[in-house]
Amino acid sequence: MMGKLNWLGLAAASLSAVSAQYYQRLGTCPTLGCVLPPDQQDFLPGQYFDLRLEVHAPVNGSEAFNEGVPDEEFFVTITKEGGEARSITEFFSVEEPEVETWSFKWYEDLYAADAGTASVVNVASKIYRRLALYEPGNYQVTLNYYDGETTTANWVVRPLATKKKAKNVILFIGDGMTTNMITAARLLGHKSINGKYQSVLQVDDFPVIGHQMTHSIDSFITDSANSASALYSGHKSTVNAMGVYADSSPDLFDDPKVETIVELLKRVWGSSWGAVSTAFIADATPIALTAHTRSRYAYGPLVDQALKSLSNYTWTDHGGPDVYFGGGAEQFLPGSGSYQGKDYYQEFADAGYLISLNKTSLESLSNDSKALGIFCKSNLPVWLDRNVFTDNLQNFTNDPTGAEAPATDLPGLKEMTLKAIDILHTRGGDKGFFLMSEAASIDKQMHTLDYDRALGDLLELDDTIRATVSHLKALGELENTLIVVTSDHGHGFDVFGGVDTKYLSEQKTGREKRKAVGVYQNSGLSQYTVEHPGISYNTGPNFPVNWDPRYQVAAGFGANPDHRENYRTNPDNPRTPATNITGFESDDYFVNPTDNVDGFIVNGTLPTNEAQGVHSLTDVAVFAMGPCQDTFGGVYGNIDVFYKMANCLGLGRPDGKAGGNLTRTSR
Ligand SMILES: *[C@@H]1O[C@H](CO)[C@@H](O)[C@H](O)[C@H]1NC(C)=O
Ligand SMILES: *[C@@H]1O[C@H](CO)[C@@H](O)[C@H](O)[C@H]1NC(C)=O
Ligand SMILES: *[C@@H]1O[C@H](CO)[C@@H](O)[C@H](O)[C@H]1NC(C)=O
Ligand SMILES: *[C@@H]1O[C@H](CO)[C@@H](O)[C@H](O)[C@H]1NC(C)=O
Ligand SMILES: *[C@@H]1O[C@H](CO)[C@@H](O)[C@H](O)[C@H]1NC(C)=O
Ligand SMILES: *[C@@H]1O[C@H](CO)[C@@H](O)[C@H](O)[C@H]1NC(C)=O
Ligand SMILES: *[C@@H]1O[C@H](CO)[C@@H](O)[C@H](O)[C@H]1NC(C)=O
Ligand SMILES: *[C@@H]1O[C@H](CO)[C@@H](O)[C@H](O)[C@H]1NC(C)=O
Ligand SMILES: [Zn+2]
Repeated sequence: MMGKLNWLGLAAASLSAVSAQYYQRLGTCPTLGCVLPPDQQDFLPGQYFDLRLEVHAPVNGSEAFNEGVPDEEFFVTITKEGGEARSITEFFSVEEPEVETWSFKWYEDLYAADAGTASVVNVASKIYRRLALYEPGNYQVTLNYYDGETTTANWVVRPLATKKKAKNVILFIGDGMTTNMITAARLLGHKSINGKYQSVLQVDDFPVIGHQMTHSIDSFITDSANSASALYSGHKSTVNAMGVYADSSPDLFDDPKVETIVELLKRVWGSSWGAVSTAFIADATPIALTAHTRSRYAYGPLVDQALKSLSNYTWTDHGGPDVYFGGGAEQFLPGSGSYQGKDYYQEFADAGYLISLNKTSLESLSNDSKALGIFCKSNLPVWLDRNVFTDNLQNFTNDPTGAEAPATDLPGLKEMTLKAIDILHTRGGDKGFFLMSEAASIDKQMHTLDYDRALGDLLELDDTIRATVSHLKALGELENTLIVVTSDHGHGFDVFGGVDTKYLSEQKTGREKRKAVGVYQNSGLSQYTVEHPGISYNTGPNFPVNWDPRYQVAAGFGANPDHRENYRTNPDNPRTPATNITGFESDDYFVNPTDNVDGFIVNGTLPTNEAQGVHSLTDVAVFAMGPCQDTFGGVYGNIDVFYKMANCLGLGRPDGKAGGNLTRTSR
């Protein structure tokens, strides 16, 4: 441990906050004293969380202070508005934790990164685990350090919500889905005559729509980990983090946690809960329901967290999912992808789960048992390949049993979601259920600029929502169920015209090819809904009857690598828009010479080490139907989606415990 501090003598070196941007010492901590959860955070009454304090002593760099010796004698108080400041141990009746120390490195800017001169920071820290604030109101937490320095965090505990207005909640997440994509999908899947749609999307018929702001806690562009976590916990976080406020320690699992909606729901009401995704199930959006980690990439341990909440990582028992359907056999087959190399099919089976590895067996699953359904390795092949370019399925080596073979008996989002509802409905009984159902490849295919595959999966999501509404009606549960459809972030995608793909293909130069793009009056009308002799995909209403008409939509991206466009539906999967090439760094990406060879080059706008498109700033839509639907109108933060759902489920409680029988009210 470090000796007695002598920072008084060094006080001349003033504590100036650097304005952290491209790189940050710790995103939520501009000063040398960090309170996590930081300033401006909101809490549900009774929701568990951890409180971490850090005192930073930069050894070198522009903030160098006290010869790198952090104050270990720091102390922290909490004050409820109008009350007295009290110590954390007294206020929460918890033990004083030990001081921990570590150091970390960071780059102050791109010049420092280019030169390889990282700044070193020594840290003294304490963490108080499993606290909860039960009384609504304003609180102030003050960290006192370096003899007179203070960092204050203002917290708001939201009003109590003890009445359960919805028995069930189904949260649909169209990953990366924006209003622009919804508009484009409607154009592809629905017929219009003289400007009037003859049918519309299911979400178009939702009674209430709002907008949520997706920013991370310390960056305005988010990833899917912390944005999912904001939707599930009411607490924002840092890119790649879930269910925690990211601290500066090297341990990926010791960061201060926050309780998620399924942990609360299990603890308060004992409801059933499940996750369905077309991604691998350890991917950020599904796993964030139970994950508490600084790194979304710790896939194996995160699957273990999902199954065994209490044994290792957290302080609250979510009971394990009642239903877990998706891809990602890598984390279940024994081997390098699974936690401790164990067989997680077996671990789940030992915990009482029925295991299903294909669509046929999914459909015959009992509705009474917990179920794990893993239908392939990695992400599920997308709707377009499962339904239109079905030969492509043979190109995958993704059998969930681990065989060197393609997975061919695959369910889609609709089959997984409807079966999940049957199981959750049966197992939840009067206690109701929570289901998160994710259309993951809207995002994944937008990343690879494969617009048609992304929009196909968006239409599959809408078709799933339509089927869900009628299934809930048949079960007599529609009136009891709040359905929310939203996204976690957007991509800078839009359609700006039509294109004559035949003309484009036959021109010689890039500049001539661009003449094929028709803007304004030359954009014409959608040809995707026009029957063509000999073309029938049998994919049902609300999908295109022709995915590859001569006149297609011209779409583009606000953030892309170098690539080539011909605007045609890509028959192959996956699309790889940019590649590294011989003679350059392996992470320096150029136009893929084999992609859209008859198209024209679109030079990139991103750093050349990005091989794909990236997320963008846009707010995303929130569609709501069912109990509490009216609370979803307007513009609000992503965390508010959590508070609205939690209020509707009666999760904000004075004692964090269930309040007896369900109180239901009409919409
Ligand atoms: C800080 O010190 C470390 C190790 O002593 C060194 O590698 C690094 O370049 C220094 N950084 C700066 C900004 O001086
Ligand atoms: C997790 O818990 C199991 C059983 O309780 C134990 O064997 C294992 O070592 C723990 N793993 C970690 C990383 O703590
Ligand atoms: C589907 O799973 C069932 C049960 O595990 C198995 O008996 C069947 O052979 C599988 N079907 C295919 C096509 O793999
Ligand atoms: C599951 O429940 C549905 C009703 O929603 C029913 O149609 C189906 O037959 C049940 N499946 C089994 C295996 O019991
Ligand atoms: C995928 O399979 C189809 C038909 O089996 C084949 O024509 C196509 O070339 C394959 N694509 C790739 C990228 O391997
Ligand atoms: C592209 O990058 C990969 C992965 O880093 C590397 O294995 C490969 O050799 C690179 N290809 C070229 C042409 O540089
Ligand atoms: C445009 O893209 C091509 C192909 O990737 C690349 O060779 C060229 O350097 C790019 N031009 C600019 C100005 O970045
Ligand atoms: C809940 O309601 C049932 C039936 O109305 C009743 O028997 C039971 O005692 C109630 N439980 C509580 C905790 O109020
Ligand atoms: Zn996402």
